[in-house]
Amino acid sequence: MNHLLSIRDLDRKHVLDIFKLTAELKAKVKAGRRVTPLAGRTLALIFEKPSLRTRVTFEVAMVQLGGAAVYLSAQDIGPGKRESVPDIARNLSRWVDGIAARVFAHTTLEELARCASVPVINALSDLEHPCQAMADLYTLWERGIALKGLELAWIGDGNNVCNSVLLLSALTGVRVRAACPPGYEPAPAVLDACRALGGLVRVTTDAREAAEGADVLYTDVWISMGQESEREKRLEAFQRYQVTETLLGFASPKALVMHCLPAHRGEEITGAVLDGPRSIVLDQAENRLHVQKGIVMHLSGAA
Ligand code: CP
Ligand code: NVA
Repeated sequence: MNHLLSIRDLDRKHVLDIFKLTAELKAKVKAGRRVTPLAGRTLALIFEKPSLRTRVTFEVAMVQLGGAAVYLSAQDIGPGKRESVPDIARNLSRWVDGIAARVFAHTTLEELARCASVPVINALSDLEHPCQAMADLYTLWERGIALKGLELAWIGDGNNVCNSVLLLSALTGVRVRAACPPGYEPAPAVLDACRALGGLVRVTTDAREAAEGADVLYTDVWISMGQESEREKRLEAFQRYQVTETLLGFASPKALVMHCLPAHRGEEITGAVLDGPRSIVLDQAENRLHVQKGIVMHLSGAA
């Protein structure tokens, strides 16, 4: 594995190796032990969109591992405007040991990876959010939950986070029912890839049907970054896809609620569910830090 642009860059062994490494690194930090295997190493962070979790967790991860991160906003470096993406990739490769990039178009990541001689990590694109999905399934795995056979209901937009969660679910044996309004289903190529991996994924328009008996309910915003002009149309399309206490009532009695955050209380999820006892959203957010350490270490060859 040279880059992490998509969950498709991982196989089952990569996932388990990264989960185990993550657990070790997390335990060391929790025990107050400092390990600095990436001393002197640097990661460039390119962001074309805003971020709280992804930026902070990559920066803190690099500091805790003994290295450093260099934040570059799109306004500063102007990918495709001030300078071409290949030129950015070639220059950065002379200075840093890796590049994490949050971009609008997934093709920008592919171009970066094609022209960089250092590993490139997808920090969210229009197509996928692999670091998020890795932190999410790690969060279940570290609780001792068997992923194989677990029933996950995705409620809402078949978006970037959904695509990565579906692909990683297929790889790890999680069975998925995705409830999406017509026209907002996961990418067909992603569904095909899930099925090629032997994944069990069913797409429905009925949120209740998806939630029925599920072990996990997962949702994300209805209006992703860059889709603000579609707000009215989307609010209307997604009305029947809110994660409420009523919907949670159809799931398994011990069902967990997941959300990648940021959340919009009163849109895709109610405040009562997001802040309620079944919610593990802050564990997911915390684990972004630990899993991304595992990913960076794995890609750097330092693991
Ligand atoms: N979940 C996530 O990626 O959050 P940010 O957009 O704040 O980075
Ligand atoms: N689907 C959301 C995820 C944010 C982490 C977006 O792309 O804005």
